[in-house]
Amino acid sequence: MHLQSYLKERCDSGGISAAEMGVMLALAAAAIAITALIRRDGIDADLGAETGDANSDGDTQKALDVRAEALILSHLKESDAAYLLSEEQPTPIALPRQTAPLIVAVDPLDGSSNIAVNVTVGTIFSLMPWDGNLPRPCRGRDQLGAGFFTYGAQTTLILAFASDARPQCFVLDEDKGHFIALGAEVEIAATTKEYAINAAYAQHWHAPIQQWKTQVLADAYSMRWVGSLVADAWRIFRRGGVFLYPADARAGMEAGRLRLVYEANPIAFLVEKAGGLAVNGGENILDLTPQELHERTPLLFGSADEMKILIALHKELDA
Ligand code: AHG
Repeated sequence: MHLQSYLKERCDSGGISAAEMGVMLALAAAAIAITALIRRDGIDADLGAETGDANSDGDTQKALDVRAEALILSHLKESDAAYLLSEEQPTPIALPRQTAPLIVAVDPLDGSSNIAVNVTVGTIFSLMPWDGNLPRPCRGRDQLGAGFFTYGAQTTLILAFASDARPQCFVLDEDKGHFIALGAEVEIAATTKEYAINAAYAQHWHAPIQQWKTQVLADAYSMRWVGSLVADAWRIFRRGGVFLYPADARAGMEAGRLRLVYEANPIAFLVEKAGGLAVNGGENILDLTPQELHERTPLLFGSADEMKILIALHKELDA
């Protein structure tokens, strides 16, 4: 089934609004344009080149960060979104339709430190309600929808709306220029023997992660770490596993590296819809109330049974 048909069926059945359908189609068109940009210009030094600027939080911007955001912005301007909240911008961007009912938050290009070496990167998005007041991000649990695109050997999409029981995956048919649904709805296996964490920081981990890592080493789990959240997340949605980017003792990592509004919340929304769990350690990500657009949060998510072990360790050992 094409994405357009999938969304129209959901809209006709009352599962999503026409505004949500329109915004999703705009984001899909932007992802197709980003794919074409990558295929034409190649994931190499040009798109991976630093622009010399930094984003709102001091991260160095890459050419593809800027061009991906510009494509997303140009497509959203024609949709029923009133504001864009972007990792690359310090404050919300007002869009032309100021009476539209939606706010969109994006990480336009997640994994940008991998662009120049042809590792899968992606776009993460969150659809939130707008009440006409200041465009503030909502709690993750109150999102209207969320998902992410991956730009790798294939361009893929995983998506869920508030009324969905499970997320749905799609793959881009690049010859025909549309996304096609990938089989059954997505469920994350409850158990796993595979985890993703950057073990280079092991000396800085706090007690719960140290103890958990000792257990998984003893149980001979396998480890994967792409260094691109969307790539690790896509693998977990497709074959299970857990992903950990915890807080650690390094300066500036008191709340971990990843952002609550446009990375953790969309991923956590999808994970819970797929039967998994997503926490900051002891608390459910979706229950956190954002205080600031670019605030960071520790993010641990994936297979429910393994996550319950991690949550118990945090409740027992967190200082
Ligand atoms: P960036 O977009 O700056 O490359 O950051 C990517 C994020 C996330 O996608 C990934 O899981 C994590 O940073 C990797 O962090 P480390 O480089 O510390 O492993």
